[in-house]
Amino acid sequence: MSLTLTRTDLLKEQNFIDGQWRDCINGFKHEVADPATGATFASVSDSSAVDAQMAATAAQTAFDGWRALPARERARFLKRWHALIVENSEDLAKIISREQGKPLAEARGEVAYGASYVEWFSEEAVRSYGDIIPEQVGGKKLMVTKEPVGVVAAITPWNFPLAMIARKIAPALAAGCTVVAKPAEDTPLTALALVRLAEEAGIPPGVLNIVTSSREKVKEVVGAWLTDTRVRKITFTGSTAVGKHLARESADTLKRLSLELGGNAPFIVFEDAELDAAVNGLMAAKFRNGGQTCVSPNRVYVHDAVYAQFAEKLVARVEALRVGPATRDDSLIGPMINARAVDKIESHVQDALARGGKLLTGGKRVKNDVADGPNYFAPTVIIEANHDMALASEETFGPVVPLFRFSDENEVVRLANNTPYGLAAYFYSRDIARVSRVAGRLQAGIVGINEGALASEAAPFGGVKESGYGREGSRYGLDDYMQTKYHCQGGFA
Ligand code: SIN
Repeated sequence: MSLTLTRTDLLKEQNFIDGQWRDCINGFKHEVADPATGATFASVSDSSAVDAQMAATAAQTAFDGWRALPARERARFLKRWHALIVENSEDLAKIISREQGKPLAEARGEVAYGASYVEWFSEEAVRSYGDIIPEQVGGKKLMVTKEPVGVVAAITPWNFPLAMIARKIAPALAAGCTVVAKPAEDTPLTALALVRLAEEAGIPPGVLNIVTSSREKVKEVVGAWLTDTRVRKITFTGSTAVGKHLARESADTLKRLSLELGGNAPFIVFEDAELDAAVNGLMAAKFRNGGQTCVSPNRVYVHDAVYAQFAEKLVARVEALRVGPATRDDSLIGPMINARAVDKIESHVQDALARGGKLLTGGKRVKNDVADGPNYFAPTVIIEANHDMALASEETFGPVVPLFRFSDENEVVRLANNTPYGLAAYFYSRDIARVSRVAGRLQAGIVGINEGALASEAAPFGGVKESGYGREGSRYGLDDYMQTKYHCQGGFA
């Protein structure tokens, strides 16, 4: 594998089950491609249902011991894991950049972001309180305790290969659950490195297991967990279509689910907005990870009165974004994850232009001496966007900003909510009455008010409507891995 790291032992290509690094049972390999060039640079296990079942057995066996540990001890494991992640940040960032394509500076930010969840849940682990309910009938004590749900299957996406798995595993372990994990087929190496560090932190065998596979084998691996009665919860970040499939397929075993699914985030710029701040917020929200985030603004609504001015300011900023490989210090937009992703972005742009949109900048693939590969796409601004365009109803997941016009608050709130999704929504306004009115009416799990950077380990992340359910991060994130038990104790008369 061509990747220079300080610690070569972080480059793992095998599954980790019951404290052992091992090839998958059939010995098959799945190749990992460099998003910049499409060329293979590593290969990991292409696991089957048998490997998934072995992981579930290990997790089930380890569960009783792990849940029985005092919370303070589980917290200590997480603290050690956090320290190791921080200590090995540079190597982890290099792995993220290499397999996911985000520029190194951004990958360093992702390591810090992911580590913050591990630290947060090492602190939350000791704060899962229950309740004593005041006596209702003489002689009976009513008590509520929180218990870990059991074995958790974590299925994670490629866009944040470290942060997304960290924010699922850390609360699960903090709660006393054990984990079987399946990272995205495009980006397994970061997750494997993270698990290597968990092993080094001394997390006991079977508590954390990871199984990798190709896209073709995902159904088999995840399918084994969906039907396995020992797996009590699925936590998934990815598309709404897959989330619905998981909900359907896990119905027979009535698993708990946390689903962080697709979005179609509106970003509204009212006529009273501070325009430079709104442009800054949009740049931060839209171009993070090249637009490949679930909370990326997909529809930008700008009031007629400031439309031209906003577009001009935005284009100046967008044209300054340098497209290039993750390895160059001056790159701000790396390659998209793979050819399918670029094809979708390109088709959205072409469709928008065919339906009346006007291109102000970008609009095509980039290929030059610096961005030398098939998967680079130019940061793009399209004006006169309308709701017949595919990009109005589907997530583009790329560096494309369509500007829609509006002239009335009620109309724009209706348009913003007119989607099956409800993950994030953003708006900019200096009118205090409007701020509380609009924030209350937007149908989203996360609302950015005069702010484009929303992510925080201390806040609950998750959606409403078809963007899913469950929350990650914050104290709510620990609850997602716990079940409530009511104890009714008699004999006190
Ligand atoms: C995502 O794109 O799913 C997560 C983004 C974030 O954590 O801010």
